[in-house]
Amino acid sequence: MIVKQYLMFILYSLCASVFKGILGQIPITQNVTVVEGAIANMTCRVDYNDNTSLQWSNPAQQTLFFGDKKALRDHRIELVRASSQELTIRINDVSLSDEGLYTCSLFTMPVRTTKAFLTVLGVPGRPEITGFTKPAMEGDVVTLTCTTSGSKPAATIRWFLNDKEVQGTKEVNATGKSFTVRSSLQFQVDKRDDGVAYTCSVEHVSLSKPYMTTEVLEVHYAPHLEITHSLIIPQEGQYFKLECVSIGNPIPEPVEWSKDGGELPDIERMIVEGRELTITTLNKTDNGTYRCEASNHLGSSSAEYILFVYDPNALGQHGPDHALIGGVVAVVVFITLCLIIVLGRYLARHKGTYLTHEAKGAEDAPDADTAIINAEGNHVHAEEKKEYFI
Ligand SMILES: *[C@@H]1O[C@H](CO)[C@@H](O)[C@H](O)[C@H]1NC(C)=O
Ligand SMILES: *[C@@H]1O[C@H](CO)[C@@H](O)[C@H](O)[C@H]1NC(C)=O
Ligand SMILES: *[C@@H]1O[C@H](CO)[C@@H](O)[C@H](O)[C@H]1NC(C)=O
Ligand SMILES: *[C@@H]1O[C@H](CO)[C@@H](O)[C@H](O)[C@H]1NC(C)=O
Ligand SMILES: *[C@@H]1O[C@H](CO)[C@@H](O)[C@H](O)[C@H]1NC(C)=O
Ligand SMILES: *[C@@H]1O[C@H](CO)[C@@H](O)[C@H](O)[C@H]1NC(C)=O
Repeated sequence: MIVKQYLMFILYSLCASVFKGILGQIPITQNVTVVEGAIANMTCRVDYNDNTSLQWSNPAQQTLFFGDKKALRDHRIELVRASSQELTIRINDVSLSDEGLYTCSLFTMPVRTTKAFLTVLGVPGRPEITGFTKPAMEGDVVTLTCTTSGSKPAATIRWFLNDKEVQGTKEVNATGKSFTVRSSLQFQVDKRDDGVAYTCSVEHVSLSKPYMTTEVLEVHYAPHLEITHSLIIPQEGQYFKLECVSIGNPIPEPVEWSKDGGELPDIERMIVEGRELTITTLNKTDNGTYRCEASNHLGSSSAEYILFVYDPNALGQHGPDHALIGGVVAVVVFITLCLIIVLGRYLARHKGTYLTHEAKGAEDAPDADTAIINAEGNHVHAEEKKEYFI
């Protein structure tokens, strides 16, 4: 009886320990991901433990902590908690070289181990844009390069031109455990690039929002001038203004005005203020070719305007009169032509009738007219005759 109970107890204990060994005495860990420079907590747990020691060792198989005892001299590594159920350590100021497979061991017979991978993210450096020539000259071929180093995994570089994305080249080099990423844009500078913002954006898992660097391109280009005028039909006595509109970078200055290839006449009515030439009261003598000229260090440009001062009298009276007379003459000519055609056809149709009646009354008539009147049915034919003589 006692023997039986004893055997039962042994069997029970054996089963229990085997059961615990299989289900409970397994260390549990989790993979850890931290950003370079941060703190990594490495936790190892055992649900059912009979005071067996836990140990953490690093990827190089060096023991870090054996229970609450520190084994490796590394001031960055500290104990957080050591109990029969847990061994947690922390690694301060994590570096990329700390990355790897860490092992938690439970010293049962046999030893049970679990591995946790520590991933260390390399934070990309602020992007730098190189290749800017300030200012760039129109027509230059420019290569802008954006570089960011220290990222792990490799960061992504994107380019934006005033918020519109453009594609650049991509080059990734490993520098130790991190990466240097470089992206370039090559283009020929146009005057439309003046003032355009080129933004390099660096995206990475370790960043909550992208790092951005922006450079504004300044383009120098040769001037281009145009003259605008305040009146379409300048007339004598009117106020008139010419403006020399210039584009160019640097702004082409000063603006030089000239007339008919020579100096501007020195008259009070004419005022020149930089880009503007004002004639307070137009006069026929102002007729001529006005020219403005300006330059910057990339070149010079000019524009011309031919001023023709109209006589307001010629415009207001004679001009429209001529047109009116011309129009009236044209209408009259047209109507006359129509009449001639219509009458011509009418005459051709009634000629026969006329001749027949004329013959009947011709004998006792003194002349041709009387003959027609005397003729039979002269009523109708008198009217016909009237028509002929209109
Ligand atoms: C690491 O553990 C400490 C102490 O328990 C805690 O304050 C800290 O937030 C933990 N850090 C991380 C990254 O889990
Ligand atoms: C574990 O050790 C503590 C003291 O070191 C002791 O009080 C406890 O009974 C032990 N537990 C087991 C299951 O051996
Ligand atoms: C832990 O990380 C390693 C290496 O990256 C991987 O192979 C493993 O599947 C990860 N385990 C878990 C539970 O995520
Ligand atoms: C990558 O390496 C090549 C060859 O060594 C070198 O020419 C290039 O400049 C490097 N690029 C970066 C982004 O460091
Ligand atoms: C135009 O100028 C001439 C000569 O200066 C002057 O005699 C004439 O009165 C002017 N005409 C008008 C409309 O101002
Ligand atoms: C003004 O110019 C027109 C056309 O070039 C010319 O016919 C006219 O004689 C000119 N008037 C004067 C006053 O020069």
